This record gives sequence, structure tokens and C-alpha cells, in this order.
Amino acid sequence: MARKKIIAGNWKMNMTPSEAVSLVETLKPLVVNDEVDVVFCVPAIDIIPAMEAAKGTNINIGAENMYFEEKGAYTGEISPLMLKDAGVQYVIIGHSERREYFAETDETVNKKVLKAFEHGLTPIICCGESLTQREQGITLDWIRQQIKIAFLNVTADQAKTAVIAYEPIWAIGTGKVATTEQAEEVCAAIRVCIGEIYDQATADAIRIQYGGSVSASSAPELFAQPNIDGGLVGGASLKPDFGKIVNYK
Ligand code: 13P
Repeated sequence: MARKKIIAGNWKMNMTPSEAVSLVETLKPLVVNDEVDVVFCVPAIDIIPAMEAAKGTNINIGAENMYFEEKGAYTGEISPLMLKDAGVQYVIIGHSERREYFAETDETVNKKVLKAFEHGLTPIICCGESLTQREQGITLDWIRQQIKIAFLNVTADQAKTAVIAYEPIWAIGTGKVATTEQAEEVCAAIRVCIGEIYDQATADAIRIQYGGSVSASSAPELFAQPNIDGGLVGGASLKPDFGKIVNYK
């Protein structure tokens, strides 16, 4: 069965709650497309108002992060129970900005992935290499390691429902989109890696996105690749252009 594409916006630390409502209102009519899953991953404080504004539409409101405990003395963190109760399905885990600025590691990513699955949330698991790593020729080794650790103790049934976002760090927010060949090469290697950890059925089912300076002009070619099942979009998800990305065909 063909994999359904999933096109997600990552709003990062943008949009106050009232701005979030206006943005959802603006994008609502532009992102209609039943052939793809459309997700807006928004700051925690925007989840509830954005969810209200998106009611009755095809927009799924997701989260940008969560902690790996249910509750307790973890000031400032957001629990999977809070996300579930708010009606969230998708949560980004291990974005490179979380790894760089908030000390997340492959190990904490794995804990969060396991916790997300335990609570019926769908993780969008991020991986990606730095420019130095690409230049050193270790991209595929690095990505394989990130994937193997992220999926430790995750069952095949869980893995089948996961989303992986391949985001080369050098392409994030830089306007330097990876070439279609570079993006497809790594996404294909990720699928092979999932096949090695699990089996072909799991590799065939898991959805793998590309992220990093995706725009209305680069989306059609990227999303047409056999191993690219959609995108994780930063800057362009805050603009009407996101409608063109969702309707890339
Ligand atoms: P940009 O699309 O702004 O490059 O951001 C990509 C990203 O980090 C999405 O998670």
C-alpha cells in the first residue's frame, strides 16, 4: 500500500497565542488536501487555541517537544499526558535545535520516543548531519547511529506508525536546500536501516520526511522521490506558501 504523505509545519518559537489563531485562520483554506496528512507543530502555549481554530478542518495540531516523564518536579516541561489530553497526535522529538541548545542526546530522544508511543502519540523523530560531517563523508554512518539509538526497544508495530524527519543541519533556515539526490539518498538509507532493525514490512510502512529550507518551489521534486514521504517545514510553514507546499502536485 502506498504511504500517505505527511507534510508538517514546525513553527519553532514563533507566534503568540493570538497570532497562532490568525495564522490557522489564514492557512485553513489553503492547506485543504485529503491526500496528505497536514500537521502544524506549534509552541505548547499555542496548542489549545490553535486546536480550537482548526476544529472541523484537515489540520492536525501537533507539539514541538515533550518530556519523557508523565508528571512531577520538572519545571517548564510538557508531559505526554498533557499533549494527549489536549488532543495532540503528533510530537516532534529530537529536533537538531533541541539537541544543540537544550542538550538533547540520542539517549534522551530514545526515552522520549518510547514515552510517546506508550501514550499513543506519534513521534516525528528528527535526525541529520552537520556540514562538517557531510564533508567528512560520514553522513550515512552518523544517521544510522541516530536511528538505531532512537529506535532502541521500540517494537515493529510502533515503528510502523512512526515518522522520521531527515533534516541536514546545514540546510535548516539557511535557504540551502539539499539536492533532491542528497535528500533521497539519505531517506533511502534510513529505510534500509529500519529494514535491518525490523523487517521489510516495517521499512515499507514507516514515513520519512525531508526537512531543511523546503519551499513551494523545491517541494514538488523532493516529494516525488520514492523514499521521501513529505516534509518538515520551518520558515515556509508560517506563510501562505505552506498551502502551496501541501498542494505540491
Ligand atoms: P526551515 O524550513 O526554516 O529550513 O526549517 C526546517 C526545520 O528545522 C523544520 O523542522
